[in-house]
This record gives sequence, C-alpha cells and structure tokens, in this order.
Amino acid sequence: MTKNLDPFGRNINYLRISVTDRCNLRCIYCMPLEGVPQMSHSELLSYEEIQTVVRAAAELGINRIRLTGGEPLVRAELPELVRMLSRIEGIEELSLTTNGVFLKKYALELKQAGLSRVNVSLDTLKADTFRYITRLGELQGVLEGIEAAKKAGFEPVKTNTVVMRGINDDEILDFAKMTYEDGWHVRFIELMPFKGVAEFVPSIELRQHISLLGKLEPCASITGNGPAMYYRLPGARGTIGFISPLTETSFCSRCNRMRLTSDGKLRPCLLREDEIDLKLPLRSDEIGASMKELKRLILKAVASKPEHHHLNEGVARLVNRKMPQIGG
Ligand code: GTP
Ligand code: 5AD
Ligand code: SF4
Repeated sequence: MTKNLDPFGRNINYLRISVTDRCNLRCIYCMPLEGVPQMSHSELLSYEEIQTVVRAAAELGINRIRLTGGEPLVRAELPELVRMLSRIEGIEELSLTTNGVFLKKYALELKQAGLSRVNVSLDTLKADTFRYITRLGELQGVLEGIEAAKKAGFEPVKTNTVVMRGINDDEILDFAKMTYEDGWHVRFIELMPFKGVAEFVPSIELRQHISLLGKLEPCASITGNGPAMYYRLPGARGTIGFISPLTETSFCSRCNRMRLTSDGKLRPCLLREDEIDLKLPLRSDEIGASMKELKRLILKAVASKPEHHHLNEGVARLVNRKMPQIGG
C-alpha cells in the first residue's frame, strides 16, 4: 500500500472534508450565536470538485475519508456526495461526523449510498442541558437519530462528548453506563480552549471517576482512524474512548490526518493557520493537468505538517477560521 509519509514519519492516510461551514445548532464552545459569515454557494467546492480532490488523494495513499461540517447534513443532497466518493478506487472507509439532528431522516439513505460509519456529537443526556449547550437543539431527535443509524446497520456508532467542567461533567457515569446494556460507544473529548466557555476536564480525571464502575481495560479492537484511546468496562458491550489533545503527550505523534475546508483549502493541522489553496487550481486547469497539480499540492501539504500543536504553551487561538469552518 502506498505510504504518504510526512517529515516526522507519520503516515497521512486520513482526510477530513468539511462540506459546509453552516450548522443548524449553535454549540456554546463552537459556533457564535449569530453563526459564521455565510459563504456563497460559488465559494464552496462543488461535489465534483471534492470528488476530484479525493481521487488525487487516493492515488497518494489516502484511504480514509470523513465528512464533517459545520453540520454536513445541512448541505443539500449529501448522500449523492457519499455515493460519488464511496466508488473511488482506494477509498476503504468513508465516514461522517454529525450533530445527529437530521440523522433519523438520512441514516438509511446514507447507508445505501455507501457510507461506512457515523459519529454523533452528544454532549449531554439531559434535555435542558442539551438546549443550553446547543442553544437551538432538541435532545430527543438526536437520540432517535442514533437509533436510526444503528437500525440502518452502522456499527460502531460512536458518540462524542466534549466535557465542560460545571456544565456536563456530572454526566460522565451516565454516559459510561450506556456502554453496558445499550452497547453504546462513547467518547469524551478534552475541550480545546478557543472560546473560554468552561474549564476542560483532563481525561485522567474522567478515567479515575469511571473506575468507580469497574476496572477500565484497554481495548484496541474498535474501528477508528482518529486520536481516541479506547477502553471497556467489565462485561460492557460498548467502549469508552478518550480524546486528549491537551494532556496526551503523544497526541500529535499519532496524527494521520489533514483537513479540507469547504472553500477548498487544505489544512495540514487543525490548530495551525497554514493552508494550501486547491480551489484555484481546480477551477483554472483542465482535468488532466489539475490532477497532477492537485497531487503536488497535497504532497506539499503533507510535507508542511507541523510536528505538534502549541495548546499547552497557551496558544489556543484559531485566527483565520472558527471551529465550524474547519470541522473539528
Ligand atoms: P474515528 O475514525 O471514529 O476515530 O473518528 P475521529 O475521531 O477521527 O472523528 P471525529 O470527527 O468523531 O473526531 C472527534 C473529535 O476529535 C474532533 O471533533 C476533534 O474535537 C478531535 N480531533 C480529531 N482530530 C483531531 C486533531 O488532529 N487535533 C485535535 N486537536 N483534535 C482532533
Ligand atoms: N474542543 C474540542 N472539540 C471541539 N469540537 C468543536 N469545538 C471543540 C472544542 N473547542 C468538536 C466536537 C464536536 C465536533 C463537531 O467538533 O467533537 O462534536
Ligand atoms: Fe454545529 Fe457541531 Fe459546532 Fe455544535 S459542535 S455548533 S453541532 S458544528
């Protein structure tokens, strides 16, 4: 298999594609209440353009794709993009991260279109806290979306919980218990401090807390391409994952990914400002020439991946973009 090595020996085989910066929620740690400035449709990469980028990436050894947003399911006809990308030779896994609001409506169609996996953001199991965190959402619809995804045949369906001290950190055991009889795969994420909404909770503290329920055993068998470390409680069907950008010292040394923004910029690192424009070459060349040029630019982005982020040195600003414009 082709390897796509960066200067630090990491194999970059995973591309996260943000298909829109719009979202139907306004999570307090992510979206400003007024939303982000709206991009016009012509600024967005078309589905055909995204397909061309993925073809070029696949030729270089990128074999995992994740669609993100904003909220990807607010972009019209997302299943059509899934259909287009799932057929590309070399793409072994095509997954989606969603807030779950439209999942009930689309789960089956997405499965039939060739989507491999779904991760759902779910920061709380309480209806009033859900309303507080998302400012616009209804918990029940998301829970129904998760069930619809499982019913459509997605496995594993993982939930992502950004843990905020004083807001949802009283629900850690409730989430952990969902891995028993309900077989959920829950993941806890350390809040990256972009907006100062709350203090983050270190994963080690969560692990100690969850140990009240039983000994957490490491579990490597769950499918995933991201930075989570997985564990299982004795007798539980589901798993508990921890994503620890702030406290895991080897977090970035395991990095295997780059991001494509909805306006066609390749971003070598979530937390660095550097971007390489693919839209102009996509729109200026005829298709053969642009393939070659795209591959050159993708390799350039891989070569410019930084060794690590600087969150721990107090650098926690996203200057040129907000989180929903990058896709997490
Ligand atoms: P799996 O293939 O299931 O492992 O998915 P994933 O964890 O790669 O995707 P998901 O979109 O569910 O990512 C979960 C969250 O992890 C993101 O929203 C981010 O908060 C965080 N995350 C993922 N990649 C990075 C990264 O490179 N850097 C940082 N700082 N956080 C990341
Ligand atoms: N810290 C950690 N994760 C974040 N996300 C958004 N903002 C942050 C942040 N400040 C991630 C969450 C969310 C996804 C869309 O982006 O995982 O579920
Ligand atoms: Fe939307 Fe996800 Fe950001 Fe919430 S975290 S505002 S659901 S993009």
